[in-house]
Amino acid sequence: MSRLVSLVVVVLLSWGTWRPAAADVGDFAPCLRFFYRSWPPKGLLGTPICQRFLNQYRFATLYSRARRSPWFSGYLYTLPAGKRPAASWKFEPQLAYPGADGNMTPFPPGPVDQNVVESQAVEHDYINSTYSRGHMDPSLHHRSHDDRLATFTLTNVVPQKAGSNDGPWQILEQRVNKTLAAYCLGDAYIVTGVIPYQSEEPWLNNHRVAVPEYMWSAYCCPKFNSSLPEKLKDFFPTYAAIGRNDSNSTEEIVPVDPAAKKQFRGYDVRSMPLETLELVLKERFSAVVSVFYERCSGSD
Ligand SMILES: *[C@@H]1O[C@H](CO)[C@@H](O)[C@H](O)[C@H]1NC(C)=O
Ligand SMILES: *[C@@H]1O[C@H](CO)[C@@H](O)[C@H](O)[C@H]1NC(C)=O
Ligand SMILES: *[C@@H]1O[C@H](CO)[C@@H](O)[C@H](O)[C@H]1NC(C)=O
Ligand SMILES: *[C@@H]1O[C@H](CO)[C@@H](O)[C@H](O)[C@H]1NC(C)=O
Ligand SMILES: *[C@@H]1O[C@H](CO)[C@@H](O)[C@H](O)[C@H]1NC(C)=O
Repeated sequence: MSRLVSLVVVVLLSWGTWRPAAADVGDFAPCLRFFYRSWPPKGLLGTPICQRFLNQYRFATLYSRARRSPWFSGYLYTLPAGKRPAASWKFEPQLAYPGADGNMTPFPPGPVDQNVVESQAVEHDYINSTYSRGHMDPSLHHRSHDDRLATFTLTNVVPQKAGSNDGPWQILEQRVNKTLAAYCLGDAYIVTGVIPYQSEEPWLNNHRVAVPEYMWSAYCCPKFNSSLPEKLKDFFPTYAAIGRNDSNSTEEIVPVDPAAKKQFRGYDVRSMPLETLELVLKERFSAVVSVFYERCSGSD
């Protein structure tokens, strides 16, 4: 056999043994309800994870094993109640051991299993870095305590500058909460993801975890209150945003407000129609990226 053929055979064989017993990794089928019309975003390649906690599916993540961080998480928004839980960080055993229980698991107090360290980000990667842990699916957008706890898994997190995470990005999460709480009458689907740097990408901890240049988010609320105030007319059924994660990025995608408070300057968030977000994603990924089925046109 030529080397190429044997390589293909080896890859196929290892795929065969790689298939997880439980369909928590590699397949969105068990958790399609977290996507509008059961239609996960198209155009991005990665490892699907049905995020399971205490034996229930909580949300869905398209994970990049190479970057040890997510491309996006998709979830159903529910009106939040209660306080942000204390962070108890978890990992996904099934990324390290295909046959493992598909429930996310708290990190042990001591050393972490080497296969887990190889297969995903661990707390050590973030400790002493200049980055905070930026949620894709934020605990703020969930009602149940267990749904909130489930967002604290490192596969749902990217390295985010505190200037973004504690500032404009948090304000975006709160504004989306207020807008959906006030005018969304049915289910609200949210997808939040990242855009990588085009070159000289920073990584955490010796090239282990990739840092994104931008974060993006979009919601789809097909059933909404049609007596919207004038300023929210364009915000339904769908709207989107892109946030800077690097104060030094150029300003074509998101301009900088020079009057912003110093600690948040350069971490601006720009709200935009879904079409505009998809144009930016197309340019940066060199691929057509579709976030929602028929752009959440609401044609049921
Ligand atoms: C973080 O830095 C502190 C102070 O330099 C050091 O004591 C600690 O061991 C470091 N922790 C990790 C996980 O590297
Ligand atoms: C952006 O990056 C900074 C670190 O540069 C990090 O603290 C922040 O959480 C990131 N923001 C997002 C939304 O990822
Ligand atoms: C989310 O929106 C609801 C309804 O407006 C509001 O009561 C609640 O305080 C908001 N939560 C946060 C954290 O902004
Ligand atoms: C729709 O919004 C209007 C004005 O904000 C409000 O009076 C009305 O109660 C809302 N309807 C529903 C079904 O929430
Ligand atoms: C931005 O660039 C300046 C000058 O090169 C550098 O000192 C600073 O650390 C950079 N900021 C970020 C968030 O990378």
